[in-house]
Formats: sequence, structure tokens, C-alpha cells
Amino acid sequence: MEYKLNTNSEVDSWKEVILVYNSALKEIGTKLEILNDEFQHVHRYNPIEHIKSRIKTSESIVKKLKKNGYESTIENMVKYVNDIAGIRIICSFTTDIYRIAEMLTNQTDIKVLSVKDYIKNPKASGYKSYHMIVSIPIYLSDRIVDAKVEIQIRTVAMDFWASLEHKIHYKFEGNAPEYIKDDLYECAKMVSELDAKMLSLNEEIQQIEKEMLEKGNM
Ligand code: GTP
Ligand code: MG
Repeated sequence: MEYKLNTNSEVDSWKEVILVYNSALKEIGTKLEILNDEFQHVHRYNPIEHIKSRIKTSESIVKKLKKNGYESTIENMVKYVNDIAGIRIICSFTTDIYRIAEMLTNQTDIKVLSVKDYIKNPKASGYKSYHMIVSIPIYLSDRIVDAKVEIQIRTVAMDFWASLEHKIHYKFEGNAPEYIKDDLYECAKMVSELDAKMLSLNEEIQQIEKEMLEKGNM
């Protein structure tokens, strides 16, 4: 059921919306913890380094609605702002990103509304990350509503790059000098090389471990 408001007062509506989005973050957060625990149990390894989640501030919601030409109403924010609830999942390796995305996609209560793979197709800035907009049912006392969550999955190195780029973007209000943009783009290439190198190194280590285990068992 698409999310519909259940109250007449603006303040109550706002509180209810935030409660629903907070619940969505909890639901997805728990799912990720379970996946990480089970992965540790089966494969002796954690695909998730850490998770950050946030609810968009009312100021940013209003700003986004305005930018896209919508009036600031609660109905519009629920309908048009897909990242009110946001979760960022930080992994060690690029392979973990696709593994987590697949595990979430396979859960029947999660509906994947859209995917943007900025790892296969990085942005012109050099930005890399895997984005999904999903919806998840929230069980309230008298009804079930669907809440949208923006999920960003990236490696530690991609996250490091994105944080710095974000700071620079903010500082220069989107108009950073060309040489800084060029340097950032160079750094993005280094991030990709580092991620690839770390992945192959990890695979080599796993292979050695496997061989040692097999020898030990003979
Ligand atoms: P908004 O950017 O949120 O308006 O949405 P969009 O429809 O353009 O979606 P997209 O998936 O491209 O970006 C969503 C989010 O990803 C942004 O809000 C940022 O958190 C992050 N992001 C996208 N592009 C960049 C980038 O070039 N640099 C950094 N640091 N973050 C980015
Ligand atoms: Mg956003």
C-alpha cells in the first residue's frame, strides 16, 4: 500500500512520516546486521565494514522539492523525495558490494524501485558507488505502509574519495577550480586501482589459506 497520511494536523503528519522513515531505517539496518552475522558464521568473514544511516533534514527536503519545482507539502515529499531515509553501507571489496545488493534484492519484502550503478558507469566527477532505491513494508498498528529508502553501497576507498569530494563541492558551492577537479579525478582513478589491487591480494590470501587447510586435512 502506498504511503498515505492518516492525520489532519500538519505537525502530527510530519511526526508520523518521520516515524515511518525511521522504522524503515531500523528494518533495513537489522536485515544488514543479520546478513553480516550469517556471512561471518558461514564464510568466517564480514562483507560490511560499517553502516551509516540518516534521516534527511527538513531544510534539505524543502530545498530538494523546490529545486525540482514541487510545492513543500508532506504528500510531495513522500512521493518525490526518494532519499528521506538513507543508508550507506561501506565494504572492503567491490565484490562485497554486489553480494550485498543481491542479498537485499532477493528478500521478498524488499521491492527494488531503481538501481544506479556508478561503479560500472562512474559519474564525470569520478564518483563511484552503487545506489538502490528500495521500498519496505512498515507494520503500523492499523495498517501496512511502504517506505522508500536510498541505499548507497561503496568501498572504504570510494567512501574516502566521496567524503573529500563532497567537502570540496560544498566549499566551492559546486564551482571548484578546474585543477582541483582534475586532481580529484586522478584520485578517483587511484581509488579504482587500489580497490582492484586489494581485491586481487585478498583473493590470493584466500587461495593460500584454502591450500593450507587442504594440506592440513590430508
Ligand atoms: P540527488 O543527487 O540526491 O538529488 O539525487 P539523484 O537523483 O541525482 O541521485 P543520485 O543517485 O545520482 O545521487 C544520490 C546521492 O548520491 C547524492 O545525494 C549524494 O549523496 C551521492 N552522490 C551522487 N553523486 C555524487 C558525487 O558526484 N559526489 C559525491 N560526493 N556524492 C555523490
Ligand atoms: Mg541525496
